[in-house]
Amino acid sequence: MIYVKSEREIDLMRESCKVVRDTLGFVGSKIKAGMSTKEIDELVERYIRSSGAYPSCLGYGGFPASCCVSVNEMVVHGIPDEDTILQDGDIVSVDLCALKNGYHGDAARTFCIGEVTPEKRQLVKVTEECFFKGIEGLKAGTPLFDIGYKVQKHAESFGYGVIRSYTGHGIGAEMHEDPSVPNYGKLGTGVRLKAGTVLCVEPMIALGSWRVRLLDDGWGAVTADGKPAAHYENTLVVREDGVEILTL
Ligand code: MF3
Ligand code: CO
Repeated sequence: MIYVKSEREIDLMRESCKVVRDTLGFVGSKIKAGMSTKEIDELVERYIRSSGAYPSCLGYGGFPASCCVSVNEMVVHGIPDEDTILQDGDIVSVDLCALKNGYHGDAARTFCIGEVTPEKRQLVKVTEECFFKGIEGLKAGTPLFDIGYKVQKHAESFGYGVIRSYTGHGIGAEMHEDPSVPNYGKLGTGVRLKAGTVLCVEPMIALGSWRVRLLDDGWGAVTADGKPAAHYENTLVVREDGVEILTL
């Protein structure tokens, strides 16, 4: 069941999404080689709480931290820890959610640490492009799977793998609401999206194969072939004539 939001609810979501956006901007200004992923998590938790919001990854399904920090071959849901130290040449995705006024915002960015190989740099750039390709032409009435079709087309034109086992999602009073928003699909298929639908569109793209393996911690997902992956996500509202991106 897809909940269409009222303008009042969207106004409230704009606030939680602003916290998410500002927190990611803050992380981007601080992240550097030598930091542990745990330090990133501490920065995120402090920033979100001091913004009058709650870091809603914390405790979600038992997740033990305030954000997901996924380094290189880790695709998503990396649990921050003291022993993972960021190195020159790493690509690091930071995915976080904030709950304010009863509504969640959710976004992710992949940061390049120091000198990153051209191969990884391109992966990060194309993953971001995949988001914008995915939402090209998106407006009320667009079939849901057009998003994934466009993401997949762009990613695969570079020979990259589109992660299948994790998807985008609706968002609102719950962090994950209907519909599921895959990053692959057939043009012209899926439910026609209504104005006022709030979605997280989040391409997760791998340099090699799309196959992933779950770590023993039950959260972290790594590429099965060990090649790097990148992630880029925003929360957006479907409008009559386009989209409004809330976390940019
Ligand atoms: N933005 C992530 C997602 O939509 C947040 C996951 S919640 C966590 O999957 F528990 F993994 F942190
Ligand atoms: Co999400």
